[in-house]
Amino acid sequence: MNFDIDRYKQLAGRLNDGDIDYGHFHSHPIPEPALRCLRYMHDIEHHTACYLRDLLVTRAHRDPTLTTFLTCWAYEELWHGEAIGQVLAAHGESWGAARVAAARQRTAWSGRFAPWAMALSSAATRHVTAVHMTWGAINEWTTQAGYGRLAQRCDDPVLTTLLRRIMKQEGRHIDFYASQAHARLEGSPAAQRMTRTALRRLWAPVGSGVMPRPEVRHLVTHLFGDEAGREAVARIDRRIDMLPGLSGMELVANANRRLAFAGTGTV
Ligand SMILES: [Fe+2]
Ligand SMILES: [Fe+2]
Repeated sequence: MNFDIDRYKQLAGRLNDGDIDYGHFHSHPIPEPALRCLRYMHDIEHHTACYLRDLLVTRAHRDPTLTTFLTCWAYEELWHGEAIGQVLAAHGESWGAARVAAARQRTAWSGRFAPWAMALSSAATRHVTAVHMTWGAINEWTTQAGYGRLAQRCDDPVLTTLLRRIMKQEGRHIDFYASQAHARLEGSPAAQRMTRTALRRLWAPVGSGVMPRPEVRHLVTHLFGDEAGREAVARIDRRIDMLPGLSGMELVANANRRLAFAGTGTV
């Protein structure tokens, strides 16, 4: 799969929400369980700047194709967070800088060490970029699926329009990360081994390192806990199966199962 970075550079931009009637939510509020997911999504979209910081201290910064993508990607994710913030604002909720500052405060300790860990891992192995591109593909797949599930569960025309536009941009992010992952894993057993090990040991649903555990559990069970959600997860796991050397992991299904069991006190 080839990704045309020059075309993406031309297409990338601020999410078009000029015609979204956020006042609609005054008369048609989103139910609390879904609003709780939107708070999570708002915070994580805005946390992209920190993910960018962590990636740029690795050898990824030497590759101009990667840095071009990451620059546009971070800008698009910012506007996803802003648009979701408008939905929260229409519900009288805190959004934007106030919520983002609280999230940064919560992650101040881990945020101090993350760039060091990333830089050290990058110095230790040249395959670190393969790991991060694969990680990015999986996070974009799950994010896009999460927005799709939220739209289905809420069945609100305004929210659905907004989320579909976000999902379209997430689709381009998926194309980039998945094409990079494929190219870096293909023909490299060492990269495949390292990526498999890193995912098995460290991968958790996007936002797990930032959001409180009950919020992660709520998001995963609300969006992926029913039949349609489990089917969406199975589709993502099948996509992971298609990446060189990564078949048979059931990574997302297993991570979601662990979270759900943890919620019942079984684990
Ligand atoms: Fe996004
Ligand atoms: Fe994205």
